[in-house]
Amino acid sequence: MSRDIRVEDLSLEEKVQLLVGASWHLRRIHGAAGETRPVRGLPMVAMADGPSGIRIEPNPIRRWPATAFPVPVMLASTWNPELVEAVGRAMGEEARDYGIGVFLAPGINIHRHPLCGRNFEYFSEDPLLAGKIAAAYVKGVQSVGVAATPKHFAANEQETNRTTVDTIVDERTLREIYLKPFEIVVKEAKPWAIMSSYNKLNGKYTSQNEWLLTKVLREEWGFDGIVMSDWGAGDNPIEQVKAGNDLIMPGSDEIVSRLIEAVKRSELSEDYVNRSAARVLEFIKRTPAYKGYKPTNAPNLKEHGKLAYEAAAEGVVLLKNNNEALPLNTNAKVALFGTGQVETNRGGLGSGHTHPRYFINILDGLRNGGLRVDEELSSIYVNYVKENRGEDYLCALYYEEAYSEPLPQDVVSEEQVRKYAERNDAAVVVISRNSGEGWDRRAIKGDYYLTDSERRLIEVVSKQFHALGRRVIVVLNVPSPIEVVSWRDLVDAIILVWLPGQEAGRVVADVLTGRINPSGKLPTTFPRDWSDVPAAKAVECYPGTPPDNPKVVKYCEGVYVGYRYYDKYGIEPAYEFGFGLSYTRFEYRNLKVTIDDSVKVSFDVINVGKYPGKEVAQVYVKAPQGSLDKPVQELKAFKKTRLLNPGEVDHIELTINIKELASFNDAKGLWIVDKGEYEVRVGASSRDIRLTSKFTLNNEISFKP
Ligand code: BGC
Repeated sequence: MSRDIRVEDLSLEEKVQLLVGASWHLRRIHGAAGETRPVRGLPMVAMADGPSGIRIEPNPIRRWPATAFPVPVMLASTWNPELVEAVGRAMGEEARDYGIGVFLAPGINIHRHPLCGRNFEYFSEDPLLAGKIAAAYVKGVQSVGVAATPKHFAANEQETNRTTVDTIVDERTLREIYLKPFEIVVKEAKPWAIMSSYNKLNGKYTSQNEWLLTKVLREEWGFDGIVMSDWGAGDNPIEQVKAGNDLIMPGSDEIVSRLIEAVKRSELSEDYVNRSAARVLEFIKRTPAYKGYKPTNAPNLKEHGKLAYEAAAEGVVLLKNNNEALPLNTNAKVALFGTGQVETNRGGLGSGHTHPRYFINILDGLRNGGLRVDEELSSIYVNYVKENRGEDYLCALYYEEAYSEPLPQDVVSEEQVRKYAERNDAAVVVISRNSGEGWDRRAIKGDYYLTDSERRLIEVVSKQFHALGRRVIVVLNVPSPIEVVSWRDLVDAIILVWLPGQEAGRVVADVLTGRINPSGKLPTTFPRDWSDVPAAKAVECYPGTPPDNPKVVKYCEGVYVGYRYYDKYGIEPAYEFGFGLSYTRFEYRNLKVTIDDSVKVSFDVINVGKYPGKEVAQVYVKAPQGSLDKPVQELKAFKKTRLLNPGEVDHIELTINIKELASFNDAKGLWIVDKGEYEVRVGASSRDIRLTSKFTLNNEISFKP
């Protein structure tokens, strides 16, 4: 019987069936992405996407709503692994309770290209932050007995031509930046599965790359789960099995036959089949379906809704707050501009989409949050959206998966704006963008740049409201950075709410009124202008082909990604990595650094302002220039404080393993920690360093990967 089934008991045909998914057509759970095959009475294990919540589709008979949590870039903005672990656990429970055994999340690719269409699904431009947040997420999911699947392994940092593009990246860069989050997650959270990516890496599809899937992942890092392919990735299933891609997804009968034939013709040794079949078998035995768990179809959506609120609340980043424009009085009169108040984006598009039980847009959130919304003005926007998107649009918002171009924002005249300025205390302008799987955002008006009508709206609102001494606040409801420098001086405050999940409106209202004191910090740089972005600027990064249709993408900036680039070349960003304001102020004191077999860093964070709040304290290390060229500084540790009342102090103690100071020397094939003087830089962002201290390493340390 299935209970004690062993690989040795299975025929070749049965073993191969274990290696190939059951194709799209057998999906029992509406909206699930795939499942394993029912070999010898083993259960079919269902898989569903994330990473902002379980993606299954609402079904007219059995409704299966799942909580829409804030997108991963917002989870990373919390810099709070404990909170992210709780979110992971909640998603795991929803998966388990709907009969899903494998959660196809989280995405942990690096924000190399600020406009990658899936950046909302990924955490950060920094490998340490991405790895630590991912590890917390995976621990949470797996704590309830459901597999997490960190993806897309590896070097899949853009969507254009994603299934064929060849990413060229040197080994140092690969190991220090792009593989690092996977290494952290494998070592700290032991994911049951990893998904290889669509792209090629240095000439070979990642799903067919033995060096990546077997040598690095298993032999070096000790991974003991299964590797599954991305859906339809690669061009040769035989090579996939040889490389160590254990499960081919979504799978087809043709692939099964091809593999069986290959073994019979001695093109594929049966040892490879046995190896992967044993792994898949062990994997299936860990899942709830195998253990006889009966899906309840009734996860605790109410509690998870509260958690979605909490996670979004901690991920809001306050980018600007001149003269304490925020918070507003709780009963302030507010004129709400922009169609994004109605068609607020709660999440991104593609496989990372979610179908929640409810969704609060910004308009409803403000109405319910006590603010006195100018209803006449907002009704103009509601009608405008209905006219342009169709009557059903508001209802469709719960299910919508398709991209809609931003609507023109010439909705109210300057005279009308003057009238609203006269009768309101503040203007709130919502700017919305979305993106999704399969395409990248573009450095054009209406995407990275404001449209002309958006810019006009901000100008007119700024002129009329400021003429009467009223404040102007912009809410950015975006999946990844937009250009801000050309217009930010026109407004008093900017809050970045990313794609905040089903509780979007409530969170925006509570930030505006101070019930939430923002404590998020940027996990990714906001560049001043597109021309500053390293991934976009050099033609040599796309050898022989144009950037909008590349066959090859060369990571020609090397390890200088995100702040590592802007710091090295002295380029000022609009808002730097790690940046985020609060309604209160924090001071840093008493830095102590000691060194024995690790570096111990301790300091105090004190709330010296007026409001209770949390601070994200960041520790960067500046290494000596030794055998390899080094970034100016790199994030090596971080800690979010507990909620501190005015006057309260949090004593922070952090440890950095000395090996984490190493760089990879391609020529020697070794990680090397140079000897010399290191500077520990503690601060509120990568460019707001408050305390520094130095230590010296007398001897070089080197070790094998
Ligand atoms: C995406 C994966 C996803 C899979 C299954 C692919 O197109 O790249 O992230 O998990 O589809 O839906």
